[in-house]
Order: sequence, then structure tokens, then C-alpha cells
Amino acid sequence: MTTATIIDGKNFAARLRASIAGHTAQLKAAHGFTPGLAVVLVGDDPASQIYVRNKGLQAREVGMNSFEHRLPATTTQAELLARIADLNQDPAVNGILVQLPLPAQIDAQAVIEAIAVSKDVDGFHPLNAGLLAVGGTGMVPCTPLGCLMLLKDRLGNLAGQRAVVLGRSNIVGKPIAALLLRENCTVTLAHSRTRDLAEECRRADILVAAVGKAQMVKGDWIKPGATVIDVGINRIPTPDGKGRLVGDVEFDSAVQVAGAITPVPGGVGPMTIACLLLNTLTAACRQQGIPAPEVKPAAE
Ligand code: GUN
Repeated sequence: MTTATIIDGKNFAARLRASIAGHTAQLKAAHGFTPGLAVVLVGDDPASQIYVRNKGLQAREVGMNSFEHRLPATTTQAELLARIADLNQDPAVNGILVQLPLPAQIDAQAVIEAIAVSKDVDGFHPLNAGLLAVGGTGMVPCTPLGCLMLLKDRLGNLAGQRAVVLGRSNIVGKPIAALLLRENCTVTLAHSRTRDLAEECRRADILVAAVGKAQMVKGDWIKPGATVIDVGINRIPTPDGKGRLVGDVEFDSAVQVAGAITPVPGGVGPMTIACLLLNTLTAACRQQGIPAPEVKPAAE
């Protein structure tokens, strides 16, 4: 029996960060300029706190400036919008990320739309989403960009590949579908109302699972030899009470059928922050009128 190649996103992300660090140092040497990333966290959600801390740590690791803004859970919409207006004006801040989810009193969409389009390193602003859809040069959401990089690294040219994306969220499913279409894949965007979901998946040369349901995609949903990208991060209970992270794909059965597959953890997850740093570098260059470098991961 053959088993799939395991796509090592942790290693790829580390090499990408090394390359970003090199470009950041070059920017400083040639232009005396250091990119800055502002991350805004409202409230004290434990998972969000970990994400925000890691974003700050990794930004500093690649030589960027990191500005962390922690606001209380009781922050009003007006207060948050005022903070964003300040960051929009601040020339030391090239990228702004407001960690989601936001507390219930805040309209997340209004907040996303308040971020300057050129500083929207999450790529969530409707103008950036629109540019992705119509083929312009905006900011591409981090997780979808990470998935695309892993796919191109594995497969090279994606033209003509049959891609099935499971899940239609604004932050993952829809932008991944748009990116794959831009790469000339034949894209199916499947979701909870799709009829014969397993059958749709079985047609995929590239299967991207982004539904947030633990181990939903089984090995017999996968075309032999397909490339499987698992975006899910779900915690399932274990007898010791600690729980375990699993993806949206049932790894043990999928690995027997797929040609290549991303594990959870260590697949797509580490790519998200690496791509956030890449977007911050790109945004900084564009704001300075410097051509943004084409960043490739450092050699193994
Ligand atoms: N919360 C979970 N993932 C993300 C992300 O990619 N960006 C932001 N802003 N919040 C998130």
C-alpha cells in the first residue's frame, strides 16, 4: 500500500520567514526603513491571546516592528474605530490586523471596512476581496495564500487541475476558490448544502477542506493520488482530558489514498503567520513606492 507524502508546512513556513527576514534587512539597509505591523486584540479570549502573541513574536523575529494594542472586552465600537483611525494615519504602521472574533457589541464588518485598504494585511476589506475576484493586485488573505504556496510548491503549475474547496467562509473558502481560479484550476466551491458531497470530493485533484468539522472528510472521499490541504484546526476530547488537535480530514484513512496531504498540526497552520509577515512586507514596500520583492522560501 502506498502512503501520501506529508507536506511539511512548519518547515516551509520557517524557510519563508527566513527569506522575509532577509528582504526586511535589505529594505532597512537600502532605504533605512523597517516595516511595522499593528495587531489589535479586543477582550481576553485565550486562543486569540496566543495568536496575537505569536504574531508579535514572529514579526520581531523577522526584524519588523510590532505594535500590540490590547483593549478591554468592554471597548465600544467608537473607541475601536478611533484606534483604527490613529493606526491608519501612523506612518510607522504598514499593516493593521484586528484579531477576530470581536465582542458582540462591535460590528466586525464595520471595523474591517474602517482599516485602510493599503494596510489591510488580512485581506478582509471588501475592496481587497473584490480585487482578488476581478484579478487585481490587492492584499490576499493569509491562510489562502499559505495554502496556494504549499500547492504550487508541490504541484508547480496548477492549470487545468480539478479543485474542490469545502467551505465558503469569507476568510478561507471564498478567497481560496478565487485564488485557485486565478491559477486556472476548474474550481468547485462545496458547502453544507452541497448534494453528494463525498462524490464531489472524489472528483478533486486538489481538495481543500475548510469547514471546521473534525475529521469530516474520510479516506474514501479522496481520489487516489490527490493533493489534500487541510485547513481545519479542531480540538477533540481524549481520555486524559487534554484534548488533541485534528483537521477537517480523517488523516489516518486519507493518508492511505492521497498523493500528498498536510498534517494538523504542522501543515497549513504555520503558513498563516508567515503569510501575514509577507503581506506586511508587501504592504510596506507599496506604501513606500518600492517594488515589492518576490519572496521565495529559503533553500532547505
Ligand atoms: N482569527 C482567526 N484567524 C484570523 C485571521 O486570519 N485574522 C484575524 N484578524 N483574525 C483571525
